[in-house]
Amino acid sequence: MFTVPELGYEYGALAPHISEDIMRLHHDKHHVAYVTKLNAALEGQDELASRDVVDLLRHLDDVPESIRTAVRNNGGGHYNHSLFWQVLSPNGGGQPQGTLGETLIQKYGSYEAFTEKFNAAALSLFGSGWVWLTSELEIVSSPNQDSPLLDGGAEPLLGLDVWEHAYYLDYKNKRDDYVAAWWNVVDWGFVSGRYDAAQAE
Ligand SMILES: [Fe+2]
Repeated sequence: MFTVPELGYEYGALAPHISEDIMRLHHDKHHVAYVTKLNAALEGQDELASRDVVDLLRHLDDVPESIRTAVRNNGGGHYNHSLFWQVLSPNGGGQPQGTLGETLIQKYGSYEAFTEKFNAAALSLFGSGWVWLTSELEIVSSPNQDSPLLDGGAEPLLGLDVWEHAYYLDYKNKRDDYVAAWWNVVDWGFVSGRYDAAQAE
């Protein structure tokens, strides 16, 4: 059985960038719904249900066709949101330090150039989806609850949820204001740790 991880901070801790109301709705309703539906889809599939969610998403061909879409959408929702809560912190913001910070600047020219490109991907994504920074430091957009994991791609270091449920209560239709505020709560220490771990593999 998959379970929703607890937040590592209070629901209101990311305010004013992300409100307590959004965090309660997003974590306790949306994420819980993905996990409930994932568990329901995998009922009677003991071997698949015993795998970790990355393994499931990387090997969707192993999942019977009758439940593959449910596992893709709800397993994706579970993985994506589990990562999302962890990349956020009330002590976030600033710029990445260490190897990740240096390598991002080498690749994009500056930290600002990187965020501009990432923001452009978030604003041009039509409908619901995610924008990722992968362990190869590529910026990738995915529709719905997809991620680079599905295409055998590099594991995401950081993901931005641009579904309206992530921001509509606070920002209404102003996705650009949400994206700008979101950088203030990104935990670069956590993201750098993921980068260093991926490099060590
Ligand atoms: Fe979400």
